[in-house]
Amino acid sequence: MIRTEKLNKRFGKERGVFELNMEVDKSSIYGFVGPNGAGKTTTIKLLCGLLKPDSGKAFIDGIQVLPKNIAAIKKKIGYMPDITGVYDQMSVWEFLDFYGAAFKLPPKKRKKRIMEVLEITNSSHMIDYQMTSLSRGMRQRIGLAKTLVHDPAILILDEPAGGLDPNARIEMRQTIARLKELGKTILLSSHILPELASICDKVGIIYKGKLLVQGTVKEIGQQLQENLVVNVTVDSGTEYAKQFLERIDGVENVTILDQSQLKFIFSGTRNEVSGIVKCLVRNDVPVRWFSENEADLENVFMGITKKEDQS
Ligand SMILES: Nc1ncnc2c1ncn2[C@@H]1O[C@H](COP(=O)(O)OP(=O)(O)OP(=O)(O)O)[C@@H](O)[C@H]1O
Ligand SMILES: [Mg+2]
Repeated sequence: MIRTEKLNKRFGKERGVFELNMEVDKSSIYGFVGPNGAGKTTTIKLLCGLLKPDSGKAFIDGIQVLPKNIAAIKKKIGYMPDITGVYDQMSVWEFLDFYGAAFKLPPKKRKKRIMEVLEITNSSHMIDYQMTSLSRGMRQRIGLAKTLVHDPAILILDEPAGGLDPNARIEMRQTIARLKELGKTILLSSHILPELASICDKVGIIYKGKLLVQGTVKEIGQQLQENLVVNVTVDSGTEYAKQFLERIDGVENVTILDQSQLKFIFSGTRNEVSGIVKCLVRNDVPVRWFSENEADLENVFMGITKKEDQS
């Protein structure tokens, strides 16, 4: 639903977005991760047609983002900027009605739709609140409701959980997950990594304007991890298991963690891991559990950016 081809936007010498190739599948959530100044907002603005690229292409549901296609693009996208503008003199209702009118929804349909979007974002009770009286969390929810008014297929949310307290972040995550269930394709940015891991189908890591990797959290972890870290739980005999493991090719650093658990590093391929289990079982090591440590996003990110800085 979203695709870019070698997208470039330069601000001076080193800042901007460079050779960005991004792909977001239909009805999925794509987490766009990177530290402050990495180029997330710039990329998002390029996708929405708010910035013009120096070179490269961006496509929204097959339509190229070009000035002549902007009307069609706007219909497809719900864009929530990192800062939701303040409309002091309006109530929540008036604010949403204003957007509905801007998208030319007929009044009757508009009313129904506003009720729906307020319901989706758990904001029905705020309908008559003044925009100025809203807390940060409330404002964020109304900002999301606004992006939904014209029922776009694609949602592009720039830091939707920015500045929210932990409970409000969880609620925002749940709402986003629900929107995916409603069939929306969602691109969201964040500089907080663990937050994205739980709801995203795919993650792209951007650093200094370059998209360093993209894939599922697991895939990215696997790309990065040169050695597998494996945990084994046995019913008894950790010492026997340790001696046994140390004889297997590619197994290193066998560590006994406690009475039933061991950990080791395996430099072989993933396909060879099952061979280790077989070997252990055949030799009467009472294996109860065998698992590969999943790389967590935080470590993956640190590893990837360190590599980039060294290169
Ligand atoms: N209009 C502009 N003029 C000059 N430089 C800009 C402009 N917009 C962005 N930049 C620079 O481009 C880089 C990327 O900025 P961008 O806002 O895309 O980062 P970001 O990943 O969204 O960061 P944050 O997490 O802080 O929102 C930064 O170095 C920024 O200073
Ligand atoms: Mg930003």
